[in-house]
Amino acid sequence: MSKQTKSKKITISSLLAMKKKSEKIAMVTCYDAAFAKLINNTSLDIVLVGDSMGNVVLGFEGTISVSMDHMTHHCAAVSRGLASQFLVADMPFMSYSGSLDRALQNAGRLLQEGGAHGVKLEGGKEICHTVKAIVESGIPVMGHLGLTPQKIHSLGGYKVQGRGEQAQAIEEAALALQEAGCFSIVLELVPEELAERVTKSLDIPTIGIGAGPKTDGQVLVLHDLLGFDAGFRPKFLKTYEELGERITTALQSYSADVKSMSFPSDEHSFKD
Ligand code: KIV
Repeated sequence: MSKQTKSKKITISSLLAMKKKSEKIAMVTCYDAAFAKLINNTSLDIVLVGDSMGNVVLGFEGTISVSMDHMTHHCAAVSRGLASQFLVADMPFMSYSGSLDRALQNAGRLLQEGGAHGVKLEGGKEICHTVKAIVESGIPVMGHLGLTPQKIHSLGGYKVQGRGEQAQAIEEAALALQEAGCFSIVLELVPEELAERVTKSLDIPTIGIGAGPKTDGQVLVLHDLLGFDAGFRPKFLKTYEELGERITTALQSYSADVKSMSFPSDEHSFKD
């Protein structure tokens, strides 16, 4: 597989142009500078500091415990490592509800302290006034419809959304988010036919996860696509590596070498 480093910075205009030219958009999550530096050597377009960091790297059960401090800290780390991808940060649970001022302050903090280029908010029509205010303050906003993990307790679990009568609400919400100023919308765990209809109805790009092949782009969680967790293989996921297994094998070899005194050898030692 060829390596491809991006030379030009990705912007919301270039993402819109990609939709117009039917060029697919590739997006991945990232939570630290080490991985961000590796992403620089790829043709990936968008990096998301997702609140999936709660379960993926912080050891929480889900995304609800993720705070503004967590997001800002990890986003700043990614930003220090990243060169040209468009960097989006999730606004965590409850950071954009209640007061518009608080939502604006929190979105601003993700750009000023976290180095993000835009923010992502979960929800439909109910968040449109917040989206509009954030966009009007000069901050690009990505929407997120379908399975919205911050509402997991209301949704009753991780299951496909938008089947039957629910479909219309998602189609209407997508148009409302575009109208409110979103530059793109993530569609998570929805039937592919619905994702295709939404994609065709919008001028802004849709990015799918578990939404079939007809969206304008795809996003996967970094650690999932790299196969960190052998026990997590949902239908929508394609794993490109088995790093969980490979890392464990490497660590066990190191431990065995230390215990058998085959490391360090002369090769790794200094002489007077
Ligand atoms: O937090 C996250 O990783 C996400 C993606 C699954 C889109 O929101």
